[in-house]
Amino acid sequence: MPSCHDLFAAYADFIPDFSTFCASVQTEPSCCLRVNTLRTRPDVVRTMLIEEGYHSRPSSLADDLLLVDGLTHPGALRGALLGYYHSQALTSALAALVLDPQPGEMTCDLCAAPGSKTSHMAQIMRDEGLIVANDRNGKRLSMLEFNLKRLGVSNTVTTCYAGQNFPLRQKFDRVLVDAPCSGEGNYRWDHTGRLRHHRRASGDLPRLQRQLLLRGFDLLAPGGTLLYATCTYNPSENEAVVQTLLEQRPATLEPIQFDLAHCPGLQHWKAQTYDSRMQHCWRLYPHHTQSVGFFLARIRN
Ligand SMILES: C[S@@+](CC[C@H](N)C(=O)[O-])C[C@H]1O[C@@H](n2cnc3c(N)ncnc32)[C@H](O)[C@@H]1O
Repeated sequence: MPSCHDLFAAYADFIPDFSTFCASVQTEPSCCLRVNTLRTRPDVVRTMLIEEGYHSRPSSLADDLLLVDGLTHPGALRGALLGYYHSQALTSALAALVLDPQPGEMTCDLCAAPGSKTSHMAQIMRDEGLIVANDRNGKRLSMLEFNLKRLGVSNTVTTCYAGQNFPLRQKFDRVLVDAPCSGEGNYRWDHTGRLRHHRRASGDLPRLQRQLLLRGFDLLAPGGTLLYATCTYNPSENEAVVQTLLEQRPATLEPIQFDLAHCPGLQHWKAQTYDSRMQHCWRLYPHHTQSVGFFLARIRN
């Protein structure tokens, strides 16, 4: 079984406080619940949690993102079944906040299942406008449809295209590319040193990620906004993918303004040099956020 140091050794030169990082992935991330404001309010959920014996507090990102102490199976509580909240990592919830889709807009979620970010976008849009939630995997789309129903979302239709071939007929105000990735940000070790999340079967992920990001950009209406997100630390799946977009399209990288500890995107790694605008990307590390690892790039055309 590889140790954390072994598995992430290639990143030790850019992940700050690498030993603290390794220690953090041997602990559970904080439990985060996104209150579903289409069904209820944060104070109602906080009261329900107190009745179940759990203390919660709002996160620095938003009042409807609650951090809950000691809650290990949030999906089993009454509030989850009623669709009052959705369990979602804090850093994952940042994606929809950064993309910031507005009520009434046309939004595309190119890799959407099982729908955590689709349903978050729907609630930010107050269930107005339209979201096209696409995923290549039909079984995972069923999970998305179940989640949308549970959470009372009605402004979303689903499609099942390979995202890189998504039809270009319709243009969108906002596009999310939450790309399939190696998932390293979710790696955690239990107290016996066993790795609980394993590397996913990958194929040529960076190639697919480049194709998805280029198609996501081509789907934007003039002045539209695109968010590229992954839950991996690997620069080949993050900065290198964004670099291809900057080289092949007239894309602009925008700063992200939220109150959460992060590091800027890399400007070089090994023999690679990346565009200096990569500093606007966010790298999120578990020892800074008590959440899971994430990468975000906010892009305009
Ligand atoms: C990181 S997950 C998305 C998580 C989702 N956005 C959420 O917040 O619940 C990546 C998804 O991409 C889908 N996927 C993989 N290859 C794809 C492709 N070529 N086109 C569209 N979706 C794809 C997978 O089935 C998977 O559901």
